[in-house]
Amino acid sequence: MSHAPAPASEGAGAERLPGPQHVAIIMDGNGRWAKARGLPRAAGHERGVEALRRTVEAAPELGIRYLTVFSFSTENWRRPAAEVSALFGLLKAYVQRDLGRLKKEGVRIRVIGRREGLPADIADLVDKAERETEENSDFFLNIAFNYGGREEIVRAASRLAEAVQRGDLSLEAIDERAFEGFLDTIDIPDPDLLIRTSGEYRLSNFLLWQAAYSELVFTDVLWPDFDKSALQQAITDFQSRERRFGAVPSGAR
Ligand code: IPE
Ligand code: IPE
Ligand code: MG
Repeated sequence: MSHAPAPASEGAGAERLPGPQHVAIIMDGNGRWAKARGLPRAAGHERGVEALRRTVEAAPELGIRYLTVFSFSTENWRRPAAEVSALFGLLKAYVQRDLGRLKKEGVRIRVIGRREGLPADIADLVDKAERETEENSDFFLNIAFNYGGREEIVRAASRLAEAVQRGDLSLEAIDERAFEGFLDTIDIPDPDLLIRTSGEYRLSNFLLWQAAYSELVFTDVLWPDFDKSALQQAITDFQSRERRFGAVPSGAR
């Protein structure tokens, strides 16, 4: 993929095409990045945090308002314990180091995924990050940690069933909108653009409900190398798509 920054309105039309409001990213390829350099996998994860910082900074500059990043999946527990604990340590260090600045910059942080089963120190830190930024609304950073799309949907279904059992929700009132109210992403619009780095072509259980109509962009860039120009490239790609949502192409008769 070319890394040359492309202007957002590249192409025939003079008008600026709308960019994505919400971008979701599967940050993949840290291990391969490290392996290619003869480094331990943890070194790739450390450089991955740098790429995350760059991306959080670049996103609002490129007109993005919501950024959701996949940082640890419910399936990642299958990795060696040392790697799992390195990943937890990095989340902790990221929040501890960046929370103050993000708070000042008007970023609202939300952590989506299963909170139960997280070590107490991580759960407390995540609660604190959400609480301390809950008044912010300039930019929304959602971190998917201990997240799995199926797990989220099952948890939502269980909470919905509870609401019905309590008599707070009638069976007739269950529709897509009502269901979405039980997901971790309540009040967050669906992602317009979903990017996966490292040349893998799968969702790996990310945002299964929310990505129903997302435009998908796959790039060979390994996550630690991801930067503003790679993000711009994905946005340009997005802007060349026609989103039809099941309708006929615009201008068709
Ligand atoms: C992404 O990089 C980070 C996580 C999944 C936590 P990987 O660790 O999956 O890197 P590869 O896929 O082995 O290169
Ligand atoms: C997906 O990457 C999860 C995250 C990026 C956190 P994986 O590297 O775990 O996905 P698979 O195992 O290749 O599908
Ligand atoms: Mg991977």
